[in-house]
Amino acid sequence: MMKEVNLIGFMCNWCCYAGADLAGVSRFQYPPNIRIIRVMCSGRVDPELILDTFLYGADGVFIGGCHLGDCHYLEGNFYAEKKIEMAKRLLKVAGVEPERLRLEWISASEGERFAAIITAFTEEIKALGPVKSEKEELEAACIAAADYRLRILATKERELLGVGNKYGEVFTRHEMDRLLEDMVQEEYEAKRILLKLKKPRSVKEIASELNLKPNVVFRHILDLKRHEQIEVHEIRDNTPVYIARELSEGGLTE
Ligand code: FES
Repeated sequence: MMKEVNLIGFMCNWCCYAGADLAGVSRFQYPPNIRIIRVMCSGRVDPELILDTFLYGADGVFIGGCHLGDCHYLEGNFYAEKKIEMAKRLLKVAGVEPERLRLEWISASEGERFAAIITAFTEEIKALGPVKSEKEELEAACIAAADYRLRILATKERELLGVGNKYGEVFTRHEMDRLLEDMVQEEYEAKRILLKLKKPRSVKEIASELNLKPNVVFRHILDLKRHEQIEVHEIRDNTPVYIARELSEGGLTE
């Protein structure tokens, strides 16, 4: 028998959640696979929470907010758009289909539309089946999502495209996409290496396990060491072997 899919829906209190409520009282049918979590605004749903939801076994995540211009906190849903884009990029590098994450604007009066969208989304996730990525890949993406550089970039994107940075430099869409792509890849690789260092490993060992070039691993190792996230565990055959510092401080766990 085919395994049922698990969907989690984060829905804004003022619009989408009320739309779900209306679908219920109006008896518009939709599949029971989705568990709904009420949030005060779609803008409150961070990439880290989304990645964490996948890490804990969701096959699909749905975010529902007010239509653009109707957010009760004015611009929350504009930020939600950027955060969801960031989460999709992280899902992609972790080997998870970005289509498993869906953002929709649904008002309190759109009960029927809510039921239709959830039905279609559930069917799409059923067709994709369970998430195939390894737990460590999702875990790395989840830790990367919590990194302050990606968090800042996700919330500052609108500003960088509109008024520019503090030097007045305005980014084009193309430049922004390249910057986001590079930074997501960098952070993801660094977190993959950090997770590998739950156990002592050399640069060569990590490079071979993650299928990365040794010079790329070495660059990340230098950076992680500079940020005091790892340390030299021992010197083995004239080669340094590293370990994650948080291990001894109770940060990273097996
Ligand atoms: S209050 Fe609904 S999206 Fe912000």
